[in-house]
Amino acid sequence: MSTSGLPALPAAPASGRSDVAARLRDALLGASFTADGLLELLGAPAYAALARSETVPALRATRGDTPLEVLVRLFLLQQPVPHARVAGVLPVDACLESGWLVRVGGDSKDDVAATVDVRPYGGPGGEDWFIVSDLGCAVGGAGGIGSRDEGVVLGVGGASTTLAGITVRTPVSAALDLGTGSGIQALHAAQHATRVTATDLNPRALHITALTLALSGAPAADLREGSLFEPVRDDEKYDLIVSNPPFVISPGARLTYRDGGMGGDDLCRTLVQQAGERLNEGGFAQFLANWQHVEGEDWQDRIRSWVPRGCDAWIVQREVQDVTQYAELWLRDAGDHREDPAEYQARYDAWLDEFEARKVKAVGFGWITLRRTGAAVPSVTAEEWPHPVEQPLGDAVRAHFDRLDYLRAHDDAALLAGHFKLAAEVVQEQVGLPGAEDPEHVVLRQHRGMRRATKVDTVGAGFAGVCDGSLSAGRILDAIAQLVGEDPVLLRDRTPAQIRLLVEQGFLEPA
Ligand SMILES: C[S@@+](CC[C@H](N)C(=O)[O-])C[C@H]1O[C@@H](n2cnc3c(N)ncnc32)[C@H](O)[C@@H]1O
Repeated sequence: MSTSGLPALPAAPASGRSDVAARLRDALLGASFTADGLLELLGAPAYAALARSETVPALRATRGDTPLEVLVRLFLLQQPVPHARVAGVLPVDACLESGWLVRVGGDSKDDVAATVDVRPYGGPGGEDWFIVSDLGCAVGGAGGIGSRDEGVVLGVGGASTTLAGITVRTPVSAALDLGTGSGIQALHAAQHATRVTATDLNPRALHITALTLALSGAPAADLREGSLFEPVRDDEKYDLIVSNPPFVISPGARLTYRDGGMGGDDLCRTLVQQAGERLNEGGFAQFLANWQHVEGEDWQDRIRSWVPRGCDAWIVQREVQDVTQYAELWLRDAGDHREDPAEYQARYDAWLDEFEARKVKAVGFGWITLRRTGAAVPSVTAEEWPHPVEQPLGDAVRAHFDRLDYLRAHDDAALLAGHFKLAAEVVQEQVGLPGAEDPEHVVLRQHRGMRRATKVDTVGAGFAGVCDGSLSAGRILDAIAQLVGEDPVLLRDRTPAQIRLLVEQGFLEPA
């Protein structure tokens, strides 16, 4: 892969406090070059604009000469700054020697500039982390990336934070981040995994991951180059596998960070299929993925067929785009819309040719979570949930699989003997015409996690309302039967299916 057009990277970090990355970290923190410090300096609008790759508001807010303004200009806005100014803030000569900075500024070479983008990133526990990426590539997405080199390494995008948010954060021994890029997932994993392995097809990404971890004060990861699971030995197993893979379904590989280089959605399929045998019992594999909606095929059947043997799965389709929206999204991502119009048209055509040949009508975006279990009958849920959710969802994902275990172990009789509690922050909404005596239907709505809503009948609503863990489900149903004048035997017979659904979707929790 060509990375020839990209600048040389800073030297790989060495261990110990004397390492330049460690000294640079201390200096950055000393100048409040942190997520909070930036917000305070720039103000919310300029800070948010920067996250959209718009630099003008931040340039206007950093015309002064405080250490923090110098660092913002150097590392975020990638402006040359006089050597003497930087010397007051950073160990400038050590940074020049190890390649974090280079001398620029014509013949005098009085200015210095950064060789990589360094962006403050607040960890979930308030940690001050830094994400390293290629210059001009800290933020991908609709603005278009700043480099056309195929080996360019991007910073944190919406997909990165989505995956970090849905990841189950139970303490584990071994975690694998496949396609590590800037190292953001490895950095998160280092907080709760004893050992972190980070792989990438792109050696530049592995180098940048080492820099991100060192600059964030996190333990080094085991870095391995190679495609998909190639760098992992057959006998190596993990408790957690995460991947925000190059999932884009494109007519040909161009940009390594997004185009997997396999046809259609084959890369995502291969990733999911091969993950099962790399997981320890009880371990989770979590992926972002794109999948084809093929003419005459149910998308759910397509993804279900990817789930490896011995694994439960939860597949959530968050969005669907038709093929034109999809092609435009990724043409813009690469900045193709700013190029020669004829070339843009030819590329657009190529995307549509590819989809036509594959009979693809649309593309689904979503999350796939696998959990390895010894269960004889695995549970596979594939659903569409395009609505807002409350991130981080890691605990909700784990709880989803715990509830599957519970339901698998409890037949209807056991369910009726069970005790349940209404989940926190579930409310009831009555839907119907204004002034009508009875609601047309009742909706239970969660205000946490997936923020689900589900229609229930009056028995379901009454049942959920009484669930505080003290009475068994059967006893509650008997009381409801008496209240509404229904045969308790019939009610006990027909209600477990509804209870099962309420438990599965997290409205009721086994007490
Ligand atoms: C979308 S980026 C994700 C980066 C980072 N993990 C994140 O969450 O922001 C995908 C990464 O996968 C890498 N990659 C591309 N093809 C790969 C392959 N066949 N096997 C492993 N990694 C690959 C790219 O180099 C890139 O770093």
